[in-house]
Amino acid sequence: MIKAGIYGATGYTGWELVKLLQRHPAAGIAFVTSQSQAGQTLRDVFPAAPALRLVAGEDAPLGDVDVVFLCLPHAAAGETALKALAAGARVIDLSADFRLRDAATYAAWYAHTHPAPHLLDEAVYGLTEVCRAELPGARLVANPGCYPTSVLLALRPLMLSDMPIAGPIIADSASGVSGAGRSPTATTHFVQVAGNYAPYKIGRAHRHLPEMEQALRRWRADAPPLLFSPHLLPVPRGILSTIYVTFAGEVDEDDLRARYATAYDDEPFVDVLPAGQLASLAHVNHTNRCAIALTLTGRTLILTAAIDNLIKGAAGQAVQNMNVMFGCPETSGLI
Ligand SMILES: NC(=O)c1ccc[n+]([C@@H]2O[C@H](COP(=O)([O-])OP(=O)(O)OC[C@H]3O[C@@H](n4cnc5c(N)ncnc54)[C@H](OP(=O)(O)O)[C@@H]3O)[C@@H](O)[C@H]2O)c1
Repeated sequence: MIKAGIYGATGYTGWELVKLLQRHPAAGIAFVTSQSQAGQTLRDVFPAAPALRLVAGEDAPLGDVDVVFLCLPHAAAGETALKALAAGARVIDLSADFRLRDAATYAAWYAHTHPAPHLLDEAVYGLTEVCRAELPGARLVANPGCYPTSVLLALRPLMLSDMPIAGPIIADSASGVSGAGRSPTATTHFVQVAGNYAPYKIGRAHRHLPEMEQALRRWRADAPPLLFSPHLLPVPRGILSTIYVTFAGEVDEDDLRARYATAYDDEPFVDVLPAGQLASLAHVNHTNRCAIALTLTGRTLILTAAIDNLIKGAAGQAVQNMNVMFGCPETSGLI
């Protein structure tokens, strides 16, 4: 049995992890933490949750676990990772703390000096479909961001090709409001969100941009720059990314579809939809799946890619990574 601790169980991704690990055949929950509600139970916070006692992070019994999941804000996650690794636990961090390779880039985008820059080279960027071979030996996994999971899985087959791409890749993504976490803000307040649909941090302003470009350039040195425009969608969960890639020459749709089939036919959680279908939240919500659809119009490929931000974009992919790290079937506990 894999013994798992969950830091930040009172947050949206933490609660999702509790749900997934509760029904996992080979893992159990050893502790759950909260800073503000330590001493209460998780059921006091979420009525449908089990009555697990919440402990403060500093009181978590790190010696009793094989792995910890960090469902914490950035900076707090990095500091907790240091303690967990020192205690001998393996770490799957859902925050952004170990996604960027460069501490100066992290500081520029997250306005915070990196708490553990010496670990950046060691951290495995945990897009499971890409890093699977590195996971069995990994001590520290940086779970990808939610928007990047949808965009990168959609673009990966093109990054493995040498098809010439003209100009920037454009990604317009819409996320349900749980993507912003559980603490309400003026922009995520129900009255502000309901009935509205709003872009934010468009172009090259969102923190997920350097994460995505880092991955694209590692996969293909001549990857074009990305223009990324996130939107807040008035639904609780789900991300839909619509991505425009214009090629420099003629492209053949059958050839494109063959590349996506080669990349994903054997993947348990990536569905490339048949011609004529478009990805939507209904294809993926409450599952660990990513649905990808291809529409070629002239020389421009329009990709639609959908995930559940809390599952494939966070807790589900974290469990997928844990499964591979500990030698379980990759699909254990996931649908
Ligand atoms: N939401 C998503 O769709 C999504 C997707 C991918 C990745 N992520 C990342 O995953 C992490 C968690 O996201 P979330 O949406 O679950 O956030 P959330 O709903 O805001 O929950 C954050 C959790 O962290 C705890 N916390 C807050 N400040 C803390 C501090 N200074 N020290 C220790 N614990 C603290 C909170 O506990 P108490 O208030 O009980 O103390 C709460 O349990 C974030 O880094 C986020 O960027 C989120």
